[in-house]
Amino acid sequence: MNVIDLRSDTVTLPTDEMLEAIRNAKLGDDVSREDPTVNKLEEISAARFGKEAALLVPSGTAGNLVSVMSHCVRGDEIYCEAEAHVYYYELGGMSAIAGVIPRLIKGRMGVYSAKDLEESFRGREFHFPNPALVAIENTHNRAGGTCWTPKEVESVARKAHELGMKVHIDGARIFNACVALSVDPKAYAKSVDSVTFCLSKGLSCPAGSLIVGDEEFIKKARRNRKILGGGMRQAGIIAAPGIVALDKMIGRLKEDHDNAKVLAKGLVSRCRVKIDMATVQTNIVVADVAPTLAETYIERAKKKGVLLSDFGKYSVRFVTHRGIVEDDIEEVLRRLSVAK
Ligand SMILES: Cc1ncc(COP(=O)(O)O)c(C=O)c1O
Repeated sequence: MNVIDLRSDTVTLPTDEMLEAIRNAKLGDDVSREDPTVNKLEEISAARFGKEAALLVPSGTAGNLVSVMSHCVRGDEIYCEAEAHVYYYELGGMSAIAGVIPRLIKGRMGVYSAKDLEESFRGREFHFPNPALVAIENTHNRAGGTCWTPKEVESVARKAHELGMKVHIDGARIFNACVALSVDPKAYAKSVDSVTFCLSKGLSCPAGSLIVGDEEFIKKARRNRKILGGGMRQAGIIAAPGIVALDKMIGRLKEDHDNAKVLAKGLVSRCRVKIDMATVQTNIVVADVAPTLAETYIERAKKKGVLLSDFGKYSVRFVTHRGIVEDDIEEVLRRLSVAK
């Protein structure tokens, strides 16, 4: 029985073209900014988002932490969605390392409004931490890969700026949002101060994320990357597949989104789970498997050769990606189906 791995789009392996690009990459010491392949990827990334500069970092977690450190000083406060990755899954790095405190805003399907931000804003009273940064997650992982529209981003960013705060997008999967809503990345980036995006998820690279922003911000980010131990030498071997990814791997994300929709519909009709179909916008499907415990559901699926991830006590996540084709979806549904 073949194993069908729906745990995450991070399990994707590099394409042959990426491996070839790695083999042929021109390399140098990137800490001294002498790796031509990294320089090229950073230039392409900045241009893609309409920003002045970009910085290659090892991971999305590093991208968020470096961005937080570059926008804030210790004791500052960050506003983010209540289940944002930067708060929920990054080991408290924003507090443990950057020394900032999160203030949580409950969103609807991962999205909150300018009004929500304004209502949770406490002001700059003497006893409060300094409100410095607003974080937006697009697509929102725990909400089920849901998208912010550029208008929603713009409206929150305008309010944040009015309130004297900077805005960062955790865009680990921002190209999924761009494809799902047919949006140019520049439309998301124009109203915010920085964006992180990942090469190593749906885009199939082995590693790497980028931060984009203005020159001054990226200069600070470069120092913070180094202080965290993220200055890499011949990092062109990471950048080379990244250039291939930005050129060739974005359009195909639609296939993952289509597969996720078919999967979600089939899971509801054949596998006795509950899914809020409004949240199935990209490549993530979050299913409520109650009364079965998530860990039990996952264990049973594993025995049938389907790998899933735990998203809460009764909540299970399925992620489609380049390693999954249409026939796999039918096979997953066949294996997980429950007789009526
Ligand atoms: C929304 C979001 N941000 C950040 C990250 C962190 O990325 P990495 O695993 O590369 O550190 C993830 C990882 O899944 C994510 O889903």
